[in-house]
Amino acid sequence: MSEIPKRTQVTIIGGGPAGSLLAHLLHLEGIESVILELRTRQHVLERVRAGVIEHGSAEVLREAGLGNRMDQEGFIHEGVNLAFDERLIRIDFMGLVGKYVIIYGQTELQKDLYQAIETGIIPLVDEAVGIEIHDVGGDRPSISFLRQGNRHALDCDFVVGCDGVHGITRDYIPKSLVQSFERTYPFVWVGVLSSSPPVADELIYANHETGFALCSMRNKQLSRYYVQGSADDQIEDWPDDRFWEALKTRLPQGVSERLVTGPTIEKLVTPLHSWVAEPMSFRRLFLAGDAAHVVPPTGAKGLNLAISDVVYLAEALADHYRTGSMTGLDSYSKAALARVWRAVRFSWWMTTMMHDFSGMADDFDRRLQRTELEYLAASENARRAMAEGYVGPSV
Ligand code: FAD
Ligand code: PHB
Repeated sequence: MSEIPKRTQVTIIGGGPAGSLLAHLLHLEGIESVILELRTRQHVLERVRAGVIEHGSAEVLREAGLGNRMDQEGFIHEGVNLAFDERLIRIDFMGLVGKYVIIYGQTELQKDLYQAIETGIIPLVDEAVGIEIHDVGGDRPSISFLRQGNRHALDCDFVVGCDGVHGITRDYIPKSLVQSFERTYPFVWVGVLSSSPPVADELIYANHETGFALCSMRNKQLSRYYVQGSADDQIEDWPDDRFWEALKTRLPQGVSERLVTGPTIEKLVTPLHSWVAEPMSFRRLFLAGDAAHVVPPTGAKGLNLAISDVVYLAEALADHYRTGSMTGLDSYSKAALARVWRAVRFSWWMTTMMHDFSGMADDFDRRLQRTELEYLAASENARRAMAEGYVGPSV
């Protein structure tokens, strides 16, 4: 970027989905912001992550003028499937709650967001390192950082930490005020992006005695698959052959017979944990997205929570700049956390129901897993509750 501003209304640290969407929403409200991003633009644009956009998130993106490519290239999914014991239980979102989700890769959404930032001429400073926040407890916070060896200072009214799970902003909330809640699951997901046609039209989450598996997709020629691995597994432990073998074993036969394997474009190992830090704000500092909370990917909630956080925050900031009131900003943390905990609960429930906890879970827990799945198969009310959780609330 050509010139780095010295003053702005809102400094946003982190240019992932939370940070870049917030900047765009503020721009629509006539509020100035600057994004400070640690990595290069290319790095941010190439990260492969989430795939499921909730109904309410899709509405937000459309209202913000970001829905065109999502609606053209994304896929509306009116249900998902749970597999166990050679059976498939379909959760019919449309029939049960009249909503759907959209399969649209976070990679694509990030492109749309960076495009909107360029169009809005919102300053995005990439490769900003050594960020420090000063006077966070006062009325005039400022930021200092280095870019290409030069030190810069930025004055602002508010600072928003959208710097993800490894970010630094949450450390500026005094430790004495913070309460953290955590659950680490004793396994990982091994994920593969494969240039092969998806095995099914809808997602399949599979519970198998040898471990969990998930069949997802990006488009008609690009599949996204995950299998459960052991907590200390590394990528090298999962050569392609082992991955495809595990996936086939864990799917019902009628599905695995249709599985087409292909070159793996990307492979990752991701740990599963839930973590929430309360509160999500301190004076003029606010946290949004993975900087404040992380959920296991089983419920596909992380990106959607990042979206709902920044919607609440953009509304509260807009209200402040319109009326001078701090009421919305003061209640941001409480409002966002209510939504976050619903997603934490849903992700925990799906994770617990679908994974193999061998070594930890005793027969009692296995029976409960099975009973939960049988209950979903048998009860429309149970399926409706799952559908409601999966498609998410209105934002
Ligand atoms: P991030 O995307 O992590 O962005 C944070 C940004 O801050 C990054 O660009 C980072 O470079 C930058 N940054 C970090 N530190 C600093 C610093 N010190 N200074 C400046 N910048 C910094 N969610 C879903 O909703 N649906 C799914 O289907 C789904 N599937 C997933 C599958 C996998 C395998 C994984 C790993 C995650 C999945 N998620 C899913 C979660 C989702 O990807 C995240 O919740 C989402 O990326 C959060 O967005 P964010 O902007 O808060 O954080
Ligand atoms: C994905 O497509 O990457 C994906 C889908 C559903 C999940 C997690 C990840 O629950």
